[in-house]
Amino acid sequence: MGQVAGKVAIVTGGASGIGAACARLLAREGAKLVITDIDAAGGAALAGEITEAGGAAIFLAQDVTDEARWPEVIASAERVHGRLDVLVANAGIGLLVAAIDMTLADWRRQNAVNMDGVFLAVKHAVPAMRRAGGGSIVIMSSVAGIRGSAGLAGYCASKGGVRLFAKAVALECAIADDGIRVNTVHPGIIDTPIWQKIPTGAEGAARNAPIDPHALAREVPVGVAGTAAEVAAGVLFLASDASRYMTGSELVIDGGITAGTARRWRS
Ligand SMILES: NC(=O)c1ccc[n+]([C@@H]2O[C@H](COP(=O)([O-])OP(=O)(O)OC[C@H]3O[C@@H](n4cnc5c(N)ncnc54)[C@H](O)[C@@H]3O)[C@@H](O)[C@H]2O)c1
Repeated sequence: MGQVAGKVAIVTGGASGIGAACARLLAREGAKLVITDIDAAGGAALAGEITEAGGAAIFLAQDVTDEARWPEVIASAERVHGRLDVLVANAGIGLLVAAIDMTLADWRRQNAVNMDGVFLAVKHAVPAMRRAGGGSIVIMSSVAGIRGSAGLAGYCASKGGVRLFAKAVALECAIADDGIRVNTVHPGIIDTPIWQKIPTGAEGAARNAPIDPHALAREVPVGVAGTAAEVAAGVLFLASDASRYMTGSELVIDGGITAGTARRWRS
């Protein structure tokens, strides 16, 4: 039996990187998937790949910041797959711009996707999970939600925001005794396409030269960038009943970044 056999999972931002790895792994472990993303071509291709491999997946085009779309996505999950058990609120963007250089429009765009999108996901998923008798919500935060990172002030604010939002909702669900658990995942430097997309300020229009995650990884204690599959393994654990006693908690998958400085005294 798969670790999430019989469960129905929505993965936002599921067309690429960490979200795509989560969708593949959850499907392989028996979940029925609803993949959503603004990237319709990538999302539809992934749903096709999973279906061809014998899994169950549909793709729905969705901008997570659009509240009107959320009831349609939840209704589709229930109509096509019968219920909703797992939400992986993963869609996110990062803007590389110092706080004092950031326009209000950039700030709002950063937070619209990373915070409003998570709030809307949770708000609309919880009633469906209650109809299913419980569930697991996994919110993709970051090490940038635990410690600061120069140039990523807006991103840090958004990722720190969802970290505490998750804890508050976890407590609300516990008090409601609804069987819904809410946890955050905090990846470090993970090799995904996000690093090629990171825009600078001025409303996110200008682009930096692409950032090489493997170059950044020299400052990671274990010395290498992580993979999307390594983050997905943590998400699978939180989605599954193996983590039944975890709620309001944080799963850090960062090669030691948040542990401290790994000074190599001798080379
Ligand atoms: N890659 C890393 O090093 C890293 C580290 C920590 C946290 N994260 C977080 O992990 C999550 C996934 O990132 P990734 O590295 O896989 O990036 P990615 O760019 O490969 O994937 C993100 C996906 O989200 C989608 N998306 C963006 N805006 C959206 C919107 N408004 N509505 C719906 N979908 C939208 C994109 O189209 C894309 O498919 C993000 O929340 C990111 O902040 C990534």
